[in-house]
This record gives sequence, structure tokens and C-alpha cells, in this order.
Amino acid sequence: MKTLIVFYSRTGCTRRVAEALAAQLGADLEELRETADRSGVKGYLLAGRDAMQKRPADLLPVTQQAADYDLVIVGTPVWAFTMCPAVRTWLLREATQMRRAAFFCTQGGSGAERAMREMEKLLGRPLVARLTLRDKDIRAGACDAALSQFTAECR
Ligand SMILES: Cc1cc2nc3c(=O)[nH]c(=O)nc-3n(C[C@H](O)[C@H](O)[C@H](O)COP(=O)(O)O)c2cc1C
Repeated sequence: MKTLIVFYSRTGCTRRVAEALAAQLGADLEELRETADRSGVKGYLLAGRDAMQKRPADLLPVTQQAADYDLVIVGTPVWAFTMCPAVRTWLLREATQMRRAAFFCTQGGSGAERAMREMEKLLGRPLVARLTLRDKDIRAGACDAALSQFTAECR
């Protein structure tokens, strides 16, 4: 099964999960990048504002197309109780091209349920699998069981 993992990561947690999933599933990776500078305190504050206001992101060109894959897994950090702008923009563009879809969120503590609901709304179809992980568990390397269950559901 040809699988693509599309993700955005500001501080590395979502990237770490995406890379672990790619290794387990033999999937291709597409990291979304924006023209906006999200670094530092100013970047953090503007990121929260943009996510809350559902502002579209100005994405740098991507290399892969969802339509070329049997399964697309989309990963986002939770920002202001929703998906980050890069993932929102990519989903709005590609949702209709996805055959099978699975989502994962990384978060500090809460908001993933709402983020997941909004992502599913943009997709407009049921998911194959979903996964939520906390940033501190990702940094501690304490997510193996959850990742294995998720990849089993994806297969
Ligand atoms: C602007 C901003 C808003 C955030 N809002 C939330 C939130 O609403 N709920 C939450 O649990 N974590 C929130 N977080 C924490 C991130 O979701 C969490 O640290 C995530 O794992 C970071 O992923 P990354 O390292 O891939 O960027 C926020 C982080 C940022 C930068």
C-alpha cells in the first residue's frame, strides 16, 4: 500500500511522530513549510492567532500529490484547540484527492478532539485511524504502543 505522511512541525514533536510512522509503514514524507516565520515569542503568538482565526497559510511548494497514494496520513500540532494553518490549507486543497485518510495530532494537553473533528469536517469522509499524542510523551519516547496500534489500524 502506497502511503504518504503529510505533516507540519514547529518544534519537532510532530516531525518525530511522522518519521516513526514512516519507518514503520515504509511511507513517503512530506513536511509542510510556510513563508511565515513562526520562531520565537512573536512567532508563537502569531501562530496562535492565525490558527484561532483559521487564517490560510502561505505554503511553500510541496513535492507529493495525495492522489498518487492509497493512504494519506496527516499530522498536525494542536494550536489554539485546532489544527495549524499549514495543515488546514493543505487539507482544503487536497481533501478531495485522498482515497483513504488517517490523522494524528500532537498536543500539550488538550484540544486534539476539537482539532480532529474540524479536520474530519474538511475531509468529509470517515477516517481509517486517528491518534493523539502528548508532546512530553513524544519527547520521552513513550509512544511505542500507541504508534503500533495506529499503524495496525492503517494497514
Ligand atoms: C501557537 C501554539 C498554540 C498551541 N495551542 C495548544 C493547545 O490549544 N492545546 C494544546 O494542548 N497544546 C497547544 N500547543 C502545544 C503544541 O500543540 C504541542 O507542543 C505540539 O506537540 C507541538 O508540536 P511540534 O513540536 O511538532 O511543533 C500550542 C503550541 C503553539 C506553538
